[in-house]
Amino acid sequence: DSEPLVLGIETSCDETGVGIVRGTALLADAIASSVDQHARFGGVVPEVASRAHLEAMIPTVDRALADAGVTLRDVDALAVTAGPGLPGALMVGVAAAKAIALSLGKPLYGVNHLAAHVAVDQLEHGPLPKPCVALLVSGGHSSLLLVPDVAGDVRSLGATVDDAAGEAFDKVARLLDLGFPGGPVIDRRAREGDRDAIAFPRGKYDDGTYDFSFSGLKTAVARWVEARERAGEPVPVADVAASFQEAVVDVLVHKALRACRDHGVRDLLIGGGVAANSRLRALAQERCDAAGVRLRVPRPKLCTDNGAMVAALGAEMVAAGVAPSDLTLPADSSLPI
Ligand code: KG4
Ligand code: ZN
Repeated sequence: DSEPLVLGIETSCDETGVGIVRGTALLADAIASSVDQHARFGGVVPEVASRAHLEAMIPTVDRALADAGVTLRDVDALAVTAGPGLPGALMVGVAAAKAIALSLGKPLYGVNHLAAHVAVDQLEHGPLPKPCVALLVSGGHSSLLLVPDVAGDVRSLGATVDDAAGEAFDKVARLLDLGFPGGPVIDRRAREGDRDAIAFPRGKYDDGTYDFSFSGLKTAVARWVEARERAGEPVPVADVAASFQEAVVDVLVHKALRACRDHGVRDLLIGGGVAANSRLRALAQERCDAAGVRLRVPRPKLCTDNGAMVAALGAEMVAAGVAPSDLTLPADSSLPI
């Protein structure tokens, strides 16, 4: 085993993730989630998330080591999400990674959460094409990236100017009384609906930027539902879900493929929790085939926040000879790409 064993820690939001990789081989991906504790608030509560990370950290490290069949002494390098994310949540992971790195005398790599969402695909589909375009869509972020080299050169092309795509799913699910998180249930209900039933707006569709906007769409759905209720008519939940979902994924795929075309890139990667969406996957595949672009989407467990993605990027940084961080590494909630 010549490649280094890397342990990665992710605590930027509500998942405590600890992953272990050797090069691009995934050995363990342990997760503890506090999502159930946030459900009754309809969104992640930062203080609740931080406390849950504290409680879950050591058991999750232990579980990852057991799953990989290794001990802490076998670990060659530590990687940790340094940002962006919730400040208190990030601090727990960064403190844990520093403590382990210091006690073992091993190098520590602070990584960017968004770049880690890109790097994780190497664990499933092998080395990333250079360059590729990445569309990252989750509850906390919606970004288009140009990625010449995931270990050292990741460029932001655009991002949401208001709500993240997953946040829009969650808010619309809430106004339809479908529960939290909203993405999976809207995805499911949309399968029985007609995606052309209601013409919801596509924000910033052809505005010449790679940015997104979803708050106008959310408001349009709310107005439409209110009007039905005021008229005393039943709300066709499946049609609303399908039409809303289509408006989101249409814009996402449209802008991602325009980024590929404008930059002469033949490979598109989609990651983040919303990449689990079945309509997003289907529409992206259809339009990529038509455009001659190869599509890579990691399996759903690797799309949502996890420790393996952090370990994957750490391993890539080790391989690329990137200098490790020192023990002053800060948790930076708005770490730029
Ligand atoms: O990446 P993730 O686990 O956490 C972060 O937000 O960083 O993403 C969670 C988000 C939630 O907003 C959830 O509603 C959304 O991903 N999501 C989906 C689906 N599964 C999860 N959105 C649409 N369709 C899905 N099938
Ligand atoms: Zn994420």
